[in-house]
Amino acid sequence: MSKNILILPGDGIGPEIVTEAVKVLAALRDDFGLDIEMDEALVGGAAIDATGGPLPETTLEMAQEADAILLGAVGGYKWEELDISIRPEKGLLGLRAGLNLFANLRPAILYPQLADASTLKPEVVSGLDIMIVRELTGGIYFGQPRGVRELDSGEKQGFNTLVYAESEVDRISRVAFDIAMKRDKRVCSVDKANVLECTELWREVATRVGDDYPDVELSHMYVDNAAMQLVRAPKQFDVMVTTNMFGDILSDCAAMLTGSIGMLPSASLDENSKGMYEPIHGSAPDIAGQNKANPLATILSVSMMLRYSLDEPAMADRIEAAVNKVLDDGLRTQDIMSEGKTEVSCDAMGDAVVAAL
Ligand code: IPM
Ligand code: MG
Repeated sequence: MSKNILILPGDGIGPEIVTEAVKVLAALRDDFGLDIEMDEALVGGAAIDATGGPLPETTLEMAQEADAILLGAVGGYKWEELDISIRPEKGLLGLRAGLNLFANLRPAILYPQLADASTLKPEVVSGLDIMIVRELTGGIYFGQPRGVRELDSGEKQGFNTLVYAESEVDRISRVAFDIAMKRDKRVCSVDKANVLECTELWREVATRVGDDYPDVELSHMYVDNAAMQLVRAPKQFDVMVTTNMFGDILSDCAAMLTGSIGMLPSASLDENSKGMYEPIHGSAPDIAGQNKANPLATILSVSMMLRYSLDEPAMADRIEAAVNKVLDDGLRTQDIMSEGKTEVSCDAMGDAVVAAL
């Protein structure tokens, strides 16, 4: 039976990069027998403009029915003045919560062809291969109560709540340990257990889950130290598992180790490996509509989709080999451009990947 993929281009460079990723999916369908159907829907600012809200009911329903979702990016200057409860980002958060996508996998891999693009010394980052497992539907992003209230003094006070139930920590820890079993068998759980009770419990539960995985070496690190270690000696890490907000921050930091955030895909999975796939970079409104964006993170997100949700590892390998080929051939979008290479546009990069498939 053919698999249904929902395409959500979103805002900014979203439509451009998604167009290139869809070309790749279409080529796999037409030339290599991938049995898929694709539908498209609105999310983020594009949905606000068309319907008044960032996550129309129909989009959420289509996402619930799809086998996998490919998202570009959401957000932009145009919607920054809106109330936080109806901004484009709420569309993304609503999809994560509405589909129960609690496990966010963010690999940070350095392509040897791009070693020069990193701001760190080549010996510090060469061979880098980290998997950040970020909890995605809990923690301070979703905790209640939240808001801005007025104190008796008349002063305003903002507040958010960091909460994790044991079951939430348990299930995300298991995802991290399962992934580690297929890699170097090391998990580093990142918390702030010296200050925050909530993450003291996090550490306790992660340790307990670790008992079920005797072959995996578990370590714990405070988030401030983890941030420092990521730029000091990043290759010490194999799998990192952490809270929603710490994961948000550390994954951007890890992305930059690889030279460009424009190269990194992500997967957000539910209990049954249904997933939403997106580049980890944002909507980059400053270069939107200029055919300059790097589509490789989105194309590599398709590869993660094939691996994690569609059970087509050979097709995923094919995409990754094609991306390596275009990099070997010296093709670079502006974000990863270096001397002696050939600068290409977003659509030319997509065409080159399709040709290399
Ligand atoms: C990310 C982004 C989102 C987040 C924003 C756009 C809501 O930064 O996916 O990392 O904070 O989770
Ligand atoms: Mg982020």
